[in-house]
Amino acid sequence: AETHYHDFVIQATPVTRLCKTHSTITVNGMYPGPTLEVNNGDTLVINVVNRAQYNATIHWHGVRQIRTGWADGPEFVTQCPIRPGGSYTYRFTIQGQEGTLWWHAHSSWLRATVYGALIIRPKEGDSYPFPKPKRETPLLLGEWWDANPIDVVRQATRTGAAPNISDAYTINGQPGDLYNCSSKDTIIVPIDSGETNLLRIVNSGLNQQLFFTVANHKLTVVGADASYVKPFTTTVLMLGPGQTTDVLITADQPPARYYIAARAYASAQGAPFDNTTTTAILNYKSAPCPAKSTSVKPVIPILPAFNDTATATAFSKSFRSQRKALVPTEIDENLFFTVGLGLNNCPSGSSPANCQGPNGTRFTASMNNVSFVLPSSFSLLEAHQQLIPGVFTTDFPAAPPVKFDYTGNVSRALQQPVPGTKVYKLKFGARVQLVLQGTSIFTAENHPIHLHGYDFYIIAEGFGNFDPNRDTAKFNLVDPPLRNTASLPVGGWSVIRFVADNPGVWLLHCHLDVHITWGLAMAFLVENGVGELETLESPPADLPLC
Ligand code: C2O
Repeated sequence: AETHYHDFVIQATPVTRLCKTHSTITVNGMYPGPTLEVNNGDTLVINVVNRAQYNATIHWHGVRQIRTGWADGPEFVTQCPIRPGGSYTYRFTIQGQEGTLWWHAHSSWLRATVYGALIIRPKEGDSYPFPKPKRETPLLLGEWWDANPIDVVRQATRTGAAPNISDAYTINGQPGDLYNCSSKDTIIVPIDSGETNLLRIVNSGLNQQLFFTVANHKLTVVGADASYVKPFTTTVLMLGPGQTTDVLITADQPPARYYIAARAYASAQGAPFDNTTTTAILNYKSAPCPAKSTSVKPVIPILPAFNDTATATAFSKSFRSQRKALVPTEIDENLFFTVGLGLNNCPSGSSPANCQGPNGTRFTASMNNVSFVLPSSFSLLEAHQQLIPGVFTTDFPAAPPVKFDYTGNVSRALQQPVPGTKVYKLKFGARVQLVLQGTSIFTAENHPIHLHGYDFYIIAEGFGNFDPNRDTAKFNLVDPPLRNTASLPVGGWSVIRFVADNPGVWLLHCHLDVHITWGLAMAFLVENGVGELETLESPPADLPLC
């Protein structure tokens, strides 16, 4: 196994999109940032230097970080932020994961432009569980604001209203042909007739679930979230922010140019969304030269309707683990968390300018009625490891405080979230089952729920309220998919299982950043086991303090 050394300099860089130039926070002046390529078993040592005017951290999304929780990255959870002018070296080893992951800033809304791909190939001497593709292309789907994303979220936090939606979707940082001023920079993906390409697709967007397709081509899904799946063929993918999907595409169509395209899956009723489409071009090498034939438009794909939940759900139910699934059959912790949005009454004494949500409210979000608040004086992990009192409490509830018809037509009075920094404590090795139950207070929505430090099996999902008597029969304990981000169906539930074998403090949150901003998060505190191999390592000497 190799060790890879990298320098990441977080800095402001002028970036021009949609005819306008913005001072944009990037890594090494690149947007998207550098692609990391490693083999399973390799170690990464990344020295992050912060030359921007904002606090920053980097999270290695999906990396298990076994015993190396100090390198996970979410600010105030596993470290204090790297201050402007500061630096921190992240050091971790890839253990047993293969496929596509990614990295992104985990501080305010910096990740809008601070992100990149992490490609993990099989161990030296091992091979893919599918024929080796001729080429591999990472495709990072993103969102671009014609504004500073940090200003967008600050304004929303101040007013209590929903933040502005993005102005373009992007593929590898480019909006593509269908947007103003973007045509000449459209991303081209070359392919030869008959050749197979492995597309490594990441939804690195901030707030939008996306459908993805390639005109006239079949996509064979072979992996997701750096775990292999039993191959299945589709024409449309749906990815929530945080999720990755690896697909094989074969050039079996007449030589031409075909659009690769993504646009919104807008699951929430009535919520504003951007109905534009981002494109790249799959370009057959023997196709008429694009420079001389600009009149020949690429083949346009068919994308599902914006609210096509049936397609989104059918896609997410097609995943089966390729490797032997090690699902715990017995459980020690049976948890039930509600997941959803809400509206808080305007706090007494506050000005109407700060309560610009619907009917003079402020938007909020919660799990089990707790709206998560990050600490500010110590990170949760530091407070846990050094027994610093007063930073968090361990009373995060295992079940909702009141039972109600979660997905029915319910009054918001049933859930007025209480702000808190509460964690749920797990014994080392505990076998956990967690029911994630969406709620329809304010509006129901598909939530991409991400767990740090773990992969988990998604053993069932469905619509409406989870009913143990009816739904336990649907559990797949044989070959459920292993993921780090679950797409919780709109107005529905998912059941996940994992073994708490990685000590540390691990965030569980909705990967729509606007929802984290509103508090849709909690953290698990996993205690050390016995012996060194079951114990969190000591913090690195350069760990940023608050
Ligand atoms: Cu990809 Cu907590 O994040």
